[in-house]
Amino acid sequence: MNRHLLSTADLSRDDAVLILDTAEHLSQVADRSIKKLPTLRGRTVVNLFYEDSTRTRISFEAAAKRLSADVINFSAKGSSVSKGESLKDTALTLQAMGADAVVVRHGASGAPHRLATWVDGSVVNAGDGTHEHPTQALLDAFTMRRRLGDLDGRRVTIVGDILHSRVARSNVHLLHTLGAEVTVVAPPTLLPVAMGDWPCEVSYDFDAVLSKSDAVMMLRVQHERMNASFFPSAREYSRRYGLDPARLARMPEGAIVMHPGPMNRGMEIAAEVADCARSTIVEQVTNGVTVRMAVLYLLLSGSESAIGGPQ
Ligand code: NCD
Repeated sequence: MNRHLLSTADLSRDDAVLILDTAEHLSQVADRSIKKLPTLRGRTVVNLFYEDSTRTRISFEAAAKRLSADVINFSAKGSSVSKGESLKDTALTLQAMGADAVVVRHGASGAPHRLATWVDGSVVNAGDGTHEHPTQALLDAFTMRRRLGDLDGRRVTIVGDILHSRVARSNVHLLHTLGAEVTVVAPPTLLPVAMGDWPCEVSYDFDAVLSKSDAVMMLRVQHERMNASFFPSAREYSRRYGLDPARLARMPEGAIVMHPGPMNRGMEIAAEVADCARSTIVEQVTNGVTVRMAVLYLLLSGSESAIGGPQ
């Protein structure tokens, strides 16, 4: 592991557990009336967002502020990016302003990896194209650990638009590292061509795996990344791959329903399922702040505690 958090595929079990355990400690801060620690005072975290975001950007901002870091929010819209400035020149500008960490979301898979070669600070991938979204997977694992206990041997089913989902890839790798058994369910058109190197099972039959799942993670159908028709109709998709109350009733007792958001209510998930007691969707957002605090803390608060040490 290195001083960046770019993917879960290269996260060791020890590093992953260290992040989750640190988040567990830091979660106590969220329960206080004054939710602030002085740990990252004088450090600067830049949120560099080239793609839209609600949860992830606000969550990183809240996490950095709770650790007393200075936060600079940069969104591509309204910046010199619209004048054609490259990622490299933008990165060098941030570097010149003394960024200790750059949290980056970009439409191009691999952009954070490139960025990491240009800046001295730590780079945290907040979602790159259809590649990875490691902090989402960490907050999902944190949520599952809290609800289900140790993830070793737990059965997690990830359903929906796997092809366009960076959340799916990050989750499959992290959950595998943590000992869970993952099955992805999707129509064949919404699966990547090369699934061979994904450490998981693949199924086209949601109902067959539903009754054996400890957690069911529904994914958004990412219309904005689709340039063709991937399924006949929204109705047909919902019928075969949507989580409705009838399917919810067939899940084992104690099994949880997850979704990273934003949701297409009524498509991949019925509104009453999204809002039911087994749904952890709002909890995932709360946990996101804590997990991102842990990541920033481990990356920025001195080399001794850096995740896995310096690169
Ligand atoms: C996801 C993303 O942006 O990759 N959302 C998130 O970060 N909470 C999933 C999505 O957009 O569907």
